[in-house]
Amino acid sequence: MEEELERLLAEAKGKLASASRPEEIEAVRVKVLGRKGDLNLYFGYLREETRPPEERAQLGQKLNTFKQQMEQALEESRRSLGSGESSRFPSEDLTLPGHVPVVGRLHPITQTVAQILDIFSALGFSAVEGNEVETEYYNFEALNIPAEHPSREGFDNFYLQTLPGWKTKQRYLLRSHTSPMQIHFMKEIRRQPPFQIVVPGRVFRRDAVDASHCFQFHQVEGLAVGPGLSFGDLKGVLVAWARAMFGAGARLRFRPHYFPFTEPSAEADLACIFCEGKGCRVCGQKGWLEILGCGMVHPAVFRAVGYALGTVGFAFGMGVERIAMLKYGIEDIRLFFENDLRFLQQFP
Ligand code: PHE
Repeated sequence: MEEELERLLAEAKGKLASASRPEEIEAVRVKVLGRKGDLNLYFGYLREETRPPEERAQLGQKLNTFKQQMEQALEESRRSLGSGESSRFPSEDLTLPGHVPVVGRLHPITQTVAQILDIFSALGFSAVEGNEVETEYYNFEALNIPAEHPSREGFDNFYLQTLPGWKTKQRYLLRSHTSPMQIHFMKEIRRQPPFQIVVPGRVFRRDAVDASHCFQFHQVEGLAVGPGLSFGDLKGVLVAWARAMFGAGARLRFRPHYFPFTEPSAEADLACIFCEGKGCRVCGQKGWLEILGCGMVHPAVFRAVGYALGTVGFAFGMGVERIAMLKYGIEDIRLFFENDLRFLQQFP
């Protein structure tokens, strides 16, 4: 009987080794351990044996051992099938690295614009967008910059050819600043004060390209119009913005300046965040970095959009690339436009 059991076990193990489906394993179990299976047959014989009790006990023990071995073999076989180790299946190395998809991210300029707008949104400004192509009227005249005005020179750029049959006397150009949207907002959209808006967008200038200039860059324009607004409000808003943008220690200084569409006008400088105003390479030893132009809206602008005499408001325009360069410590504006992934991937 012992040999028979051994043969039975070897046979069952052989079948299990070549099993590729759970049903095959189950068939082996039923044949050997099932109610009408081999093992029960042997137990049946044992009951009918007329041998002495000790011998029967010994045989019984052998059958129990066989049962355990059989159960163990079944369990192993089930496990190896479950984990895909069966020889019939092509094996797959689960320790190989997976396919990692390339995840896109926002351009540092987009991120900077978003942060600037977030802060102004918290200060009560809503964002609107203007056109990149403007007429001379919106880019210049309505902003109090007549044709012969010297301050047109730096802005006088990128004119578009008007198509034959295009019924307009206006010349079209790529906008040199976001200020034309002030006119669109007040004149066409016919918004009446009070309101406060910010205008993000791309602008174009005939600047020679170097580490701090480019023929295209981004601005965020601001315009607030409402009774009683003063230069103090303008300063308050810009200082609050600068602290949110660069940290509580950020300092702004307002320098008198000239813009045809604001009066009085100022340029605002940020105390260099690298040397804290002491003077370093980034700020050209000046300790201050120019980041925006601003002022009280010139009455000629309100006249151009048909607002009542005595309307007051303030406006500002900031250069986004400058601000991003300060924020991230970047020394060359061209990096923003070269689309070099080694650069762009550094902004999570
Ligand atoms: N438009 C000006 C520029 O591009 C900036 C500015 C905006 C100044 C609004 C004053 C008010 O330089």
